[in-house]
Amino acid sequence: MTTTQGQNAHYLADYRPYPFVLTATRMTFELHPQATRVVTALSLAPRDPQQAEDLVLDGGKGVKLVSLTIDGVAPDPSRIIRREETLTISAAALPPHPFLLETAVQIDPSANTAFEGLYISNGMFCTQCEAEGFRHITFYPDRPDVMATFHVTIDSDLPVLLSNGNPVGQSQGRAEWHDPWPKPSYLFALVAGDLVAVSDSFTTRSGRRVALNVWVRPGDQDRAGFAMESLVKSMSWDEAVYGREYDLDVFNIVAVDDFNMGAMENKGLNIFNSKLVLASPDTATDTDYDRIEAVIAHEYFHNWTGNRITCRDWFQLCLKEGLTVFRDQQFTSDLRSAAVKRIEDVQALRARQFREDQGPLAHPPRPDRYEEINNFYTATVYEKGAEVIGMLKRLVGDDGYRRALDLYFDRHDGDAATIEDWLQVFQDATGRDLTQFKRWYTDAGTPRLSLAEDWQPGDTGGTLTLTFTQDNPPTPGQTQKSPRVIPVAVGLIGPNGDEIVPTQVLEMTEASQSFSFDGLGARPVVSALRGFSAPVTLSRPLDDATRAFLLAHDTDPFARWEAGRDLALSALTAASRGQAVSGDYVDAIGHLIADGNADPAFRALCLNLPGEEEIATRLSSQGIVPVPDAIHVAREALARRIAETHLDLLSRLYDDMAVPGPYRPDASDAARRSLRHAVLALLTRIDGGERAEILFGIAGNMTERMAALTALLRRGLGQAELAALHDQFAGNRLVMDKWFGIQPMAAPPAQAVQIAHALSQRKDFDWKNPNRFRALIGGLSANHAGFHAADGSGYDFVANWLLRMDPLNPQIAARMSTAFETWTRYDAGRRARALTALERIAAADGLSRNTSEMVSRMIA
Ligand code: ARG
Ligand code: ZN
Repeated sequence: MTTTQGQNAHYLADYRPYPFVLTATRMTFELHPQATRVVTALSLAPRDPQQAEDLVLDGGKGVKLVSLTIDGVAPDPSRIIRREETLTISAAALPPHPFLLETAVQIDPSANTAFEGLYISNGMFCTQCEAEGFRHITFYPDRPDVMATFHVTIDSDLPVLLSNGNPVGQSQGRAEWHDPWPKPSYLFALVAGDLVAVSDSFTTRSGRRVALNVWVRPGDQDRAGFAMESLVKSMSWDEAVYGREYDLDVFNIVAVDDFNMGAMENKGLNIFNSKLVLASPDTATDTDYDRIEAVIAHEYFHNWTGNRITCRDWFQLCLKEGLTVFRDQQFTSDLRSAAVKRIEDVQALRARQFREDQGPLAHPPRPDRYEEINNFYTATVYEKGAEVIGMLKRLVGDDGYRRALDLYFDRHDGDAATIEDWLQVFQDATGRDLTQFKRWYTDAGTPRLSLAEDWQPGDTGGTLTLTFTQDNPPTPGQTQKSPRVIPVAVGLIGPNGDEIVPTQVLEMTEASQSFSFDGLGARPVVSALRGFSAPVTLSRPLDDATRAFLLAHDTDPFARWEAGRDLALSALTAASRGQAVSGDYVDAIGHLIADGNADPAFRALCLNLPGEEEIATRLSSQGIVPVPDAIHVAREALARRIAETHLDLLSRLYDDMAVPGPYRPDASDAARRSLRHAVLALLTRIDGGERAEILFGIAGNMTERMAALTALLRRGLGQAELAALHDQFAGNRLVMDKWFGIQPMAAPPAQAVQIAHALSQRKDFDWKNPNRFRALIGGLSANHAGFHAADGSGYDFVANWLLRMDPLNPQIAARMSTAFETWTRYDAGRRARALTALERIAAADGLSRNTSEMVSRMIA
């Protein structure tokens, strides 16, 4: 056990406003790779002139103070105290009225391997300041509730010099930017480099003409068009649906190759991981196109939910992230298929957030304690944060939601707000008491809901009583929990398959509650938790025949898919424990494949078997210890059985779903490809790889190439295809990331660690690049039975790389350590080996705060 736990903790309860008011920030950057000089002038005033306080500025180790003046005069040096992460000017040196504090500092962007603050990626200067990167640029009150206008001057010979806001001056070697919207430091950005733009413009509904640019490295222009189209769609959607307009004269997006996260919403200057901007049919898959569209929208939507209204402190992170994810999900469902989007979002939520909630890293959407805030950019804060808003909307209705959001924008524009503020607008706009609902924000864990049915036939019709019981299991630091408000959407289906009671939302507020439906002719089948109306697990005694009935007849697409999922999981969990598997799932899936009326994307979702990790999660939630190899074997066997049983149907479907003509990333073509490739994955298990090899050979786009290659690698084939892909795309970083990632991920489990090891020895394994590191280490972690190899080799391999990465880039090391977050659910042998690996990490000298917090939570 580490000893550092607790010593850096921050608590929500300790919040206090900053004792100074900052109105304007002026900065000048003299860019130099090793020695950048930053001059910062802060217009400050004591919040309470009667109350003299020390002025504490944040500033990391790499920030070297060159000079400091107050209203032009250098204070006595004894009044300035430099500590490891702060600079304090004692109250005695400060006037009781407004003053100008000027500092000059020097920083070394070339030494910045953590990619936090100002750094160099591929020859260009760029920044990442959320959450606390700005303190590595200059001394500053680096907290989100301190907001100021920014005026930034950049001196450099590089051709393109960008910062936030509007351009106010450009001359040889200099650019000036002014951002009139007060903002916290985490939204600051600067980019300088040899860049070219793909440009367009957008006229807002009140007539402001906005110049739009997507900046990329020369040669990448032809891969930036889709990002630009997505931006234009996002801007119109936010006007149409939320009444939100853009508020500057320019909107710039920059693609950078070294980036810790996906993208960042800096005011007027979004910075993106290049994999979320650059796409061409030849290099990007359908999934990449989807993600680009969604993330461009996400960052754009932050302009209102995040920037105009920001967070008071980092405990409130889900205020902006949950809401912005919810908005980008709405955007995608409006543009594409709402049913498919919902199912995909639920799948992702279960895979990442339920997994997090089940283990030692569980935390509430609004945590009340952290050591390193970067460790809380999690599925719980983002995706569960979005689910909680979906529930709110379900409870208050579409109109109520609209009124609440209008009030939120009205009341809090320009504020640094809290979850309490957010809930208050819903209370005020709808009159609803949300005291109990607030537990969704403050309590961790996934409620377990169970459903019992009671049927009483009667002369004037029968009565069906549904009794729901909720159980809120303990999570770290929260042992006792009270019941939550759970909206349960329910519909009833008659024995002939017709819907007899359309969807209604039952509101559960107690630990156990009953709801009755009477006047029913015959006992109906209950379709429960329609649309996944709450992020809970639902258990109900349902036999496979009834599940198959729901898969055939449910009118709610999510519930229909869920019935198929439950069938598949019941077959897989039984098989992995050596029990016999009924034919219900295999039969039901045959009907679905044959149903030419169903959306191909929906059919693909039903045909993709649950992943091994999902099966393990299901078993573990039933109190059963998952055995990774047994799960792998069971899943392979079921896939094979489906392929053999439905060979003719599947072969025909594979041919029918071929998409003629040039590649288009739109939803309908992508849907056909997704079905075709789901079928290919099944057929490859019995055709010796023939179809996949042919498809790879003639593939006209990366979606087909990757589908074919993945199917082959899973069968232990595909070496020639791997080599061909490498030859063709060795010069393309993003494609090479796929090449590195797919091999450990799709490898037969027994070879996965060895393959990952061999790849890690290659010269082109540029591990300091976050995308490349994530591809390989994340690829292995995603191979369930490979990572959890019984001999612990997967654990050791990942631990070694985390230890190597940590001193350079703690954020990435900490994030990738979540590979271990489920370690407690396995058998004693695996647990012992995982614990040894985790303890070895914990014991490392100089381990970062990031990784040390993660590891100590995991072994606590
Ligand atoms: N606000 C960004 C987004 O969700 C994420 C940035 C997180 N970066 C970090 N280093 N924690 O769009
Ligand atoms: Zn975000």
